[in-house]
Amino acid sequence: MTPEELQEQAEKRRAEQKDTPHQIRVCVAAGCISTQSDQVKEALVKGLSPELQKTCQVNGVGCMGLCKEGPLVSVDDTLYKAVSAADAPELINSLSQTPVQRLLCDSKAPFFSRQKKIVLENSGKINPEVIEDYIAADGYVALHKALAEMTPLQVNEQVTISGLRGRGGAGFPTGLKWSTVAKGAAGQKYVICNADEGDPGAFMDRSVLESDPHRVLEGMAIAGYAVGANQGYIYIRAEYPLAIQRLKLAIRQAERLELLGKNIFGTTFSFHVELRIGAGAFVCGEETALIASIEGKRGTPRPRPPFPAESGLWGRPTLINNVETFANIAPILRNGGSWFAGIGTEKSKGTKVFALAGKITNTGLIEIPMGITLREIIFDIGGGIPDGRKFKAVQTGGPSGGCIPEQYLDMPIDYESLAKAGSIMGSGGMIVMDDTSCMVDVAKFFMEFCMTESCGKCVPCRVGTVQLHGLLCRITDGTATMDDLSQLEELCDMVRSTSLCGLGQTAPNPVVSTLRYFKEEYLAHIQEKRCLAGVCKITVPHAAGVSR
Ligand SMILES: Cc1cc2nc3c(=O)[nH]c(=O)nc-3n(C[C@H](O)[C@H](O)[C@H](O)COP(=O)(O)O)c2cc1C
Repeated sequence: MTPEELQEQAEKRRAEQKDTPHQIRVCVAAGCISTQSDQVKEALVKGLSPELQKTCQVNGVGCMGLCKEGPLVSVDDTLYKAVSAADAPELINSLSQTPVQRLLCDSKAPFFSRQKKIVLENSGKINPEVIEDYIAADGYVALHKALAEMTPLQVNEQVTISGLRGRGGAGFPTGLKWSTVAKGAAGQKYVICNADEGDPGAFMDRSVLESDPHRVLEGMAIAGYAVGANQGYIYIRAEYPLAIQRLKLAIRQAERLELLGKNIFGTTFSFHVELRIGAGAFVCGEETALIASIEGKRGTPRPRPPFPAESGLWGRPTLINNVETFANIAPILRNGGSWFAGIGTEKSKGTKVFALAGKITNTGLIEIPMGITLREIIFDIGGGIPDGRKFKAVQTGGPSGGCIPEQYLDMPIDYESLAKAGSIMGSGGMIVMDDTSCMVDVAKFFMEFCMTESCGKCVPCRVGTVQLHGLLCRITDGTATMDDLSQLEELCDMVRSTSLCGLGQTAPNPVVSTLRYFKEEYLAHIQEKRCLAGVCKITVPHAAGVSR
C-alpha cells in the first residue's frame, strides 16, 4: 500500500461513516459477550427494515469500559446499559426519537468524564475486525511517518523523550530498552509482545487486543524498524480465544494491505508477526521464561544478565514489551514524544489502564492520567464501595504487589508513590476490598497462587512459597503461635532475596504489605483466635474467646 492509498482508504471510510446518519455500536469484547451482546447485535441487525439499512449501521465494537453494566450499546450519541436482544426493536424505534429512558447509561458520569484515553482511544468506537475502521482513525499513519520521515535513531529518540515506561509491571524506561536492542549485535533481531497477562483480576491487555488489535501490531512494527528487527511474535495465553481470533484476522488484513510483511510502504523495511499460544502459566509472563517457551522449551526463567535485549530469543537481541506499552507507540509518534511527556507526573508519563475489580461499584476498565489519586479512581470514577460498606484496602500489582490502606487514598498514582506505599503499579490490576475482607486471607490467596504457579526451578520459591502458605493457613485456622509469625517474617525476607526470578522475589509482597498495615489482624488470629472480618473459620478447639 502506498501512503496515498492509505489516505484514500481512510477518507473513503470516514465518508461512508459520515454518509450514514445513524450508527449503532454494540460492545463485542469478552465482558459484554459473556452477557450475550452478540445476540443483541444480531437482533439489532435483523431488526433493521430495508429502509433503515440505508441510513443505519450496526457495528460490533470494542470495550466501552463499564463492564459491570454490559451489554453496552451506543445509538448515535446515546449510551445504553444492560441491553438484551428483546430491547432491539425499542432501540431501533428510538432512532432520531426520544431515547429509551429505562436503559440509559449516563455517558457524562465521572466514570467516563474523568478518564483520559490514549491507549483506549479507539476502544468502543471502531470495529476491531475491520482494518478500514482503524485506518479511518489514523491507523498506520505513525508507521508510515516512521518509515518515510524518520531514521530508526529518531524513532528511538521520540520514544525516549516521551518518558514511556513499560506497562508490564517493572516500569523500565521503554526508550532505553529500545536503544539497547538497536545497539545490539548486528544481524537477526526480534520483537516480542508479551500478552501473557496472568495476574488475577487483570484484563487490560486482553481488552486492548480484543478492541483494537491493529494498534498493537502497528506499535510492534514501529519497534521492529527502530531496533532493526524483521520478525515479531505475540505470546498470548490460550485462555484468550477472542483476542487470538481478532489478532489472527488483524495480521491477515494488515498483510493483505501490505502494512505488515515485505517492503512495507514500498520501503526496504519488512516485518512479519506470528502468534505463539501459551498454555496459561503465570511464570511464562516472565521474559526469560516466555522466550524459552517460544523456543519450544519448558517455560522456566533463567538468571539475568544477559538480558533479552542483548541475548534473547535464540540468543539474538530481543525487544520484549507489554501489550499496553506497544499500544502507546503509535500516538507517541503521531503526536511527538513531548506531547506524551506533557501528560502524567514528573517520572511517570502518560496514562495507565487499570482493571477495576472487587468491592467497587463500577467494575470495568479505565484509563487515567498518571498522577490522579486513588480516591479519585475508587470513589469518583469507580463510584465507591457498594452496599454502604467501608473501604478497607486496594490491592495493586497482583501477586507481586501489595495492599494499600485508607491512609494512602489521596496519594497520586505513579510508579514511585505506589512503591513507597509498599505496593507496585504492576500491570494494572486493581482489586478493591471492603471491611468484609480479611487481610490475612487475602495474603493467603495470593500466596496460594504463587505456590501453585511456581515453576519449581529454584528452591527458595519452590519450597519457600509452600512454607509461607502453610504458615498463613495456620494463622487463618487459629493454630499459629507468635513464633510462627516471626518465622513468616523471616521467610518473607529469605524468599524475596534468594529466588531466581520475579515470581519468587515478589511472592512475599502481599504478606509484607498486609503485615505492615494490618498487623492487628494477624495478631487477632494468633492471640485471640479471632478473625476480625469474620472470614476465617478458626478451628482451634477449646480456645479462649473463640469466635468468628
Ligand atoms: C512472574 C512474572 C510474570 C510476568 N507476567 C507478565 C505479563 O503477563 N505481561 C507482561 O507484559 N509482563 C509480565 N512480566 C514482566 C516481564 O518479565 C517483562 O518485564 C515485560 O514484559 C517487559 O515489558 P515492558 O517493559 O513493556 O513492561 C512478568 C514478570 C514476572 C516476574
